[in-house]
Amino acid sequence: MLKGKKILLGISGSIAAYKSVFILRQLIKAGAEVKVVMTPSAKQFVTPLTLSTLSKNEVISELSENDSWSNHVMLGRWADMMIVAPLSCNTLSKMASGLCDNLLMAVYLSATCPVVVAPAMDEDMWNHFTTKENIKKIKANGNLVLPVGEGELASGLTGAGRMAEPEFIIEWVESYFSKAKSFTGKNVLVTAGPTQEAIDPVRYISNHSSGKMGIAIAEEFYRRGANVILVCGPTNESLPSQIQIIKVTSALQMYDACIKEFGESDIAVMCAAVSDYTVTNISDKKIKKENESIFLELEKTKDILFALGSTKKKHQFLVGFALETNDEKQNAIKKLHGKNADIIVLNSLNDAGAGFGHSTNKVTIFDKKGGEHFFEIKSKSSVASDILNVIHDLYNV
Ligand code: C5P
Repeated sequence: MLKGKKILLGISGSIAAYKSVFILRQLIKAGAEVKVVMTPSAKQFVTPLTLSTLSKNEVISELSENDSWSNHVMLGRWADMMIVAPLSCNTLSKMASGLCDNLLMAVYLSATCPVVVAPAMDEDMWNHFTTKENIKKIKANGNLVLPVGEGELASGLTGAGRMAEPEFIIEWVESYFSKAKSFTGKNVLVTAGPTQEAIDPVRYISNHSSGKMGIAIAEEFYRRGANVILVCGPTNESLPSQIQIIKVTSALQMYDACIKEFGESDIAVMCAAVSDYTVTNISDKKIKKENESIFLELEKTKDILFALGSTKKKHQFLVGFALETNDEKQNAIKKLHGKNADIIVLNSLNDAGAGFGHSTNKVTIFDKKGGEHFFEIKSKSSVASDILNVIHDLYNV
């Protein structure tokens, strides 16, 4: 059911636009409030009169109509979800490049809600290199892309490129919203970012972790209703204001914060890139450039994931991360069992666009029952959503 959900239905110019009428009808039947935004060319396929009658809302397609300006920002903020169906090749290309030459694009660029698209085009266009690139780009930007169907196409040919059927789209949207609050009441502890191990008052040892992945996971848990504590190492990312944050600098501080909070946690996700070694002979004054070489003594830090794994209770679910450069699977599985985690999320430095600093990631998740869950390269927020889906499925069994 979609009772009370506010949905923006964006329609672009494709023969599949006639099916948008069915999508609209079923969204309304399911209880949603729907506003329709069309590209000018979509009007050649389906009339605004049909859509405004069914939605009981004015249908808009121009940035200004009848001498008044359409407030695309407010529309973008009004919605709980924007669905672009059908997504034409032309509108896809504009989404990928941020081109704003019509109201649908202005609303899309202002939307703060999740955006779901249902592409529709002829097979050759669908398989074109630039289309593939554009789909990759909009996915990496956090948009959710529904699969295309195969069958009869407008050209008379048969193949891939048909818009997903309205029933499929409605089921997908309902399932998206039903997951929305699936972690309500759960206490979740997440670590993010690097740690810094002081050498002297001005220098430290650290790593390239940006904190993006852990922050995306904390935000996704929050979005799905959990009470989240984010223990975060030094990061340049903006931290979500709605989430309780414990800022730490060193591995030891992160360890202390996690040990303190873990007892009350149902789920803990250790995403931080914690330093494995810390300096034992920290200088209390800035080290001068006097000697040809200096000696830094390093000792192992306490492994937080291992410590949580060894005190984990039956009702607690523990997630570790592994960033590997070689023997990825073997190392990840070793960590899974060695640290008594429930799942390990592997990202490899060998995958382009995955790991440190990127806004995209490509992960494989290994669970302790021997399951392997593979995912494509995606935005870190979509990866966060995949990780939560796996946690949800395994945690509830
Ligand atoms: O053994 P390795 O450090 O590669 O394992 C990575 C996993 O262990 C990550 O989940 C990371 O957050 C966690 N870790 C930790 N404490 C450390 C080092 C790593 O919790 N001191």
